[in-house]
Amino acid sequence: MSPASGVVVVGSLNADLTITTDRLPSAGETVAGHDFVTRPGGKGANQAVAASRLGCAVSLIGVVGDDAHGTMLVQAAHRDGVDTDSIVRIADTPTGVAVIEVDAQGENSIVVFPGANGRLEPHHIEREAERIAAAAVVCLCLESPLETIMTAARLGHQAGATVLLNLSPFRKVPAQMLADADLLLVNEHEAAQLLGSTDPTIDWDATALEFAARGMRDVVVTLGARGSMVIQGGPENFPVLTPIPAVPTHVVDTTGCGDAFTGAIADSLARGDGLVTAARRAALVASMAAATEGAQDSYPTLNEVRAHF
Ligand code: RIB
Repeated sequence: MSPASGVVVVGSLNADLTITTDRLPSAGETVAGHDFVTRPGGKGANQAVAASRLGCAVSLIGVVGDDAHGTMLVQAAHRDGVDTDSIVRIADTPTGVAVIEVDAQGENSIVVFPGANGRLEPHHIEREAERIAAAAVVCLCLESPLETIMTAARLGHQAGATVLLNLSPFRKVPAQMLADADLLLVNEHEAAQLLGSTDPTIDWDATALEFAARGMRDVVVTLGARGSMVIQGGPENFPVLTPIPAVPTHVVDTTGCGDAFTGAIADSLARGDGLVTAARRAALVASMAAATEGAQDSYPTLNEVRAHF
């Protein structure tokens, strides 16, 4: 059998219906927008495209509707080199959409209608067991049904792949799913929700021990403009903390920056890099993504990353 290589992403595809505005509206308020554009998005597709643009062999398992958004999303991923053969098209449910507002500081607010993403079922994953077994990294997020993501985590774990679980958007997940994950990727808010703490950044040693007590050996906590913290270790091996600085940039749009970070980590791990190296490289990729509008549209290629160095 040939050695495992590349990345399999199991996750969502959304059409990102995006309006730019000076400031985000508060509840009950209407504000005027400047510009409206429909772009390819969805956390799964974003992560797949981010890794593919960095030169990684990537397949995406997901579901779209049999409509114009579905066609746009599959074509966009395919154009970026992602193997889209495992994307299922269904006739009776529309493709997922995200309604996104982006303000003048590049901050956003997002509401997602899952649509066809909600129809990604365990049998779609089981029939891709060989593809999963051949992957070095299986990359998962939570915009698809939990049972389906659990199936992917289990198959990836059984096959010996590195299972990267991005707990976004946050949901409580069964302990078995965390046990099947080799690497957990969360932002500071998701970390707080998972651990039931007010602010996990106040005491990193205590936070690392909390993760370890839940059986999570390797964790990356992203902190936006403050970079990220890499936590490595486990109960028998006292956790090692490595802070990773953010790469400063002029922020235009933070949409999908977390997905760029996740995709870049998946790419690096598939290449055999260590976690700290992967997180440093991902910080640069995410910073480059923040400097341009959109999610997938903003992700750098390998040549652009090399040119930056
Ligand atoms: O993480 C950004 C993504 O979240 C957007 O592309 C949107 O589709 C939502 O899934």
